Amino acid sequence: MFYPDEIIEEVRLNSDIVDVVGRVVRLKRSGSGYKGLCPFHNEKTPSFSVVPSKQIYHCFGCGAGGDVFSFLMEYDNLTFSEAVKTLADRAGITLPEESVSEENRIRQRERDRILSVLKDAALFYYKKLRSPDGKSGMEYFAGRGLKPEIMRSFGLGYAGKHNEVCTFLKEKGYSDSEINAAGLVYADEKKGIRDRFFNRVMFPIMDAGNHVIGFGGRVMGNGEPKYLNSPETVVFDKSRNLYGLNEARKSRKGYLIACEGYMDVISLHQAGFTEAVASLGTAFTGEHAKILRRYTEDVRLTYDSDSAGVRAALRAIPILKSAGINARIIHLEPYKDPDEFIKALGRDEFQKRIDSAEQSLSFEIHVMQREHDLSDPGERTLFQQKMARRLSLVEDELERNNFTEALAAEYMMDSGMLKRAVESSRLVDLDPGEIRGSLSTGIRSERKKSSEKSGLNEAEKLLLTYISDDPDRVYPAVKPYIEADDFSEGMMRICAEELFKQIESNELKVGSIVGLFREPEEQRLAAEIFDTGLEPGLSNTEKEQALTDLIIRIKKESLKRQSFEDEDDPISRTIKEKKVLEKLTRVRISIQ
Ligand code: GTP
Ligand code: MN
Repeated sequence: MFYPDEIIEEVRLNSDIVDVVGRVVRLKRSGSGYKGLCPFHNEKTPSFSVVPSKQIYHCFGCGAGGDVFSFLMEYDNLTFSEAVKTLADRAGITLPEESVSEENRIRQRERDRILSVLKDAALFYYKKLRSPDGKSGMEYFAGRGLKPEIMRSFGLGYAGKHNEVCTFLKEKGYSDSEINAAGLVYADEKKGIRDRFFNRVMFPIMDAGNHVIGFGGRVMGNGEPKYLNSPETVVFDKSRNLYGLNEARKSRKGYLIACEGYMDVISLHQAGFTEAVASLGTAFTGEHAKILRRYTEDVRLTYDSDSAGVRAALRAIPILKSAGINARIIHLEPYKDPDEFIKALGRDEFQKRIDSAEQSLSFEIHVMQREHDLSDPGERTLFQQKMARRLSLVEDELERNNFTEALAAEYMMDSGMLKRAVESSRLVDLDPGEIRGSLSTGIRSERKKSSEKSGLNEAEKLLLTYISDDPDRVYPAVKPYIEADDFSEGMMRICAEELFKQIESNELKVGSIVGLFREPEEQRLAAEIFDTGLEPGLSNTEKEQALTDLIIRIKKESLKRQSFEDEDDPISRTIKEKKVLEKLTRVRISIQ
């Protein structure tokens, strides 16, 4: 459902964030805001803050943050419109009727019906498992070491006799075509619809909002196929769904674990590793990676230790990498999968394996090595060449050198020699311009670039926090020196633009700026932008100095970016730069 902005703002205006958060978090006054224990991660000392003047919340510990809507979305697992509805109800605001096209309305109704079929089916399987008919299913799960509690939280069930679910659903009033569209049956013109799942234990697959969107059914014991999965349907897109994500997204350990199957996820969660997810029955896709990237940059893979698992891991690594995720491999040897491992050695040993997970690059090289007999000089050379080639593809110079040295030591090679092999392999790949650059100035390391960038981001956030904290005094003081275009492109600039616009039109509502973003990751960042920890108790003079430093830092970077843009004319560029830099040294912010 799509609500007009004015309505959303009205709901926001009538929903005090302190009130909404205060219902579930014990908040204590602290300065001009409130503090409490973060509801999104485990902590003993409060790092969760709610800022009433800005109508936002933000956790310095885990980075959670957003406005009043995103709080409900995260805490209660609601969609945006569900959050709007909930708050409108509480505030006694009547929302407009849905103004969607007829076509959308029909599609929405169809989706709702399918979700409803699936929910009823899941309930049916769930109850069946816990009834006398479900005895063999119960025994199967118990035999695999699952406790009732985990079986409940994953909604595990049992599909018994053939056509039981069909019959049940038809009695509930669903049509054959609805049941078919939910993926629960095989449909045949002559014979009608027949159950897809029977005599199997059932794993409901849920989306991030806890709706059942499909099932996996496993034979109890040996049989083919071992797993039968729902086909893709209007509500079930395999390349976009990760099993266990509805729970894992709340775990906030800083990393996520990706494994291969249903049972792996469940036994990991049972052992306390609620950060585990699986891509089900399909290879890991770019969509999966993008979804994971919303929650973390650090994914640890625990695929089966057999050759199929290794191949799957090797395929997943570059996919994760191109989504901006650093992958590591959790080794399970001598066990086959996480389920077996934990049964044999327990959770503490598994945690150790998580902590010592291998960087994907050295994993790749170790796998490569297995194909070569290093006692044979020819094979050894071949392997070393391949290794040099692989290392040469590492963009970051520091990383490349560190790995080169470590691997040289491991394979008892002269590190200088391996380094030369890596660099010459690298030069072959670079385009002529890049080679010139790399010969004269040295290849600029990615890491340096990114640390510079994060320093800049920090400065930008601090400045925006300063301004939004005290707009009446700080904004007029900094305005002569800086404009929104001086901020980094993307979120930072949008936030600056919106903040300046609102201050100038005298209607500052930081919450509504945060509310411009709807992706949870963006909301979190926006809340952080306006609630960066400022050092408390600074004197006016100290604040002025801090502001002056921030402005100079941001301006300089902005200048660098601009000069990049008109690179054609290096001389006028240098002169321009000089002038601005000179002017910058005279910046003095005064907020008296
Ligand atoms: P257990 O063998 O019960 O421990 O299950 P598992 O989850 O460890 O399964 P396994 O590692 O064999 O396979 C990983 C995942 O691939 C499963 O969870 C399924 O999603 C999928 N899968 C496995 N076998 C089949 C099959 O026969 N057909 C289909 N469609 N998918 C399968
Ligand atoms: Mn298994």
